[in-house]
Amino acid sequence: MNRILVKKELAPKIKLIEFENRDIASKAKPGQFVVIQMGEKGERFPLTISGIDPGKGMVRVIFNEVGKSSKRLGALAEGEEIGNVAGPLGNPAEIEKFGTVLCFGGGVMTGPMAYEAAAFKKAGNRVITVIGARNKELLILKDEMNALSDKLYVSTDDGSEGYKGLDFLRDILEGEKVDRVIGMSVATATLRTLCELTRPYGVKTIVSLTPIMLDGTGMCGVCRVVVGGQTKFACVDGPEFDGHLVDWDLLESRKRVYSHEERVSTLLDEQVGKDCASRFQQTRK
Ligand SMILES: Cc1cc2nc3c(=O)[nH]c(=O)nc-3n(C[C@H](O)[C@H](O)[C@H](O)COP(=O)(O)OP(=O)(O)OC[C@H]3O[C@@H](n4cnc5c(N)ncnc54)[C@H](O)[C@@H]3O)c2cc1C
Ligand code: FES
Repeated sequence: MNRILVKKELAPKIKLIEFENRDIASKAKPGQFVVIQMGEKGERFPLTISGIDPGKGMVRVIFNEVGKSSKRLGALAEGEEIGNVAGPLGNPAEIEKFGTVLCFGGGVMTGPMAYEAAAFKKAGNRVITVIGARNKELLILKDEMNALSDKLYVSTDDGSEGYKGLDFLRDILEGEKVDRVIGMSVATATLRTLCELTRPYGVKTIVSLTPIMLDGTGMCGVCRVVVGGQTKFACVDGPEFDGHLVDWDLLESRKRVYSHEERVSTLLDEQVGKDCASRFQQTRK
C-alpha cells in the first residue's frame, strides 16, 4: 500500500511521485486532494491529485520540497512506502462543457491543473492553458500542457521565458470570449492577482485554495475561509471556490499564522539530520 512506483525530479526541489493506492485511484477526480502523513507522529499535509491510473491503481502527486514533511516525502525512493495517505478528499472540480476555459497553473500546481485541464478538454471545451513560474528553471510539464491545450501561454515572474507577469491575460480576455477561468497556485497572492485581472471582464473565475489544513475532514476548523461573506471550510466545502467572492485579506493573514513555527521546524529537522549524519561519519572513522 502506498508503494512508490515512479519518482522524478521535474525542476529544482519539485518532485513527481506516482504511488500505488487502488482505493484512491478508483475514486479520485480532478480538483481533489490527498492528505499524507510521514511517520506515525508526522504532520499531516495536503497535496492535490495530479493524475490517476485506475487500472494500475496509481495516484500521482507533484510537490515542492519546502519544509519538513515535503522534504521527507521527497527523500523516499522508488519501491519505498509512504506511511499514511488519506483520500480522495475535498470536492471534485465542476467539469462541464462551458465553451472556452482558460486554465492557469502556477508553479507546482501546474501538475493538478494538467489533470483538470485534460478533463475540461474531454468534456468538449476549447482549452487555453497558461503555465507560470518564478523563472524558466521552475516551469514544469510544458510539453504535457501543450499536448492537451488548444493554445498554451507561458509566463514567468522575471520574464526569463514567455510573458513577464500576468498582465498579458488582459489581451486574451479582450481578444476572445472566455467562458470560465480556473486558477491553481499555492501562492495566494498570484491567485488574487488572477481574480483581480478577470473581475472587470465578468468571467467566472474558480480558484483552488490552499489554506493551512490539519485533519482535512472538516473537524478542526483550521482551513476556515470566507467566501461571499460566509464561513467555509476549504477541505470539505472546497477546495475550489469562486475567486471573485473570496476574502483574500483574511486568507493571506491566516496562511501567515504558522510561518514562524514552520521555519523553526524545518531548521530543527535539517539540524537533527546533520547531527545524525556527522555522528554516523564519526562512528565510521
Ligand atoms: C488543499 C491543498 C492542496 C495542496 N496541494 C499541493 C500540491 O499539489 N503540491 C504542493 O507542492 N503543495 C501543495 N499544497 C501545499 C502543501 O500542503 C504545503 O507545501 C505543505 O503542507 C508543506 O509542508 P512542510 O511540512 O513540507 O512545510 P512547512 O514546514 O509546513 O512549511 C514550509 C513553508 O512552506 C510554505 N507552505 C506551507 N503550507 C503552505 C500552504 N498551504 N500554501 C502555500 N505555502 C505553504 C510556507 O512558506 C512555509 O513557511 C497544498 C495545500 C493545500 C491546503
Ligand atoms: S482542515 Fe480541519 S476543518 Fe479543514
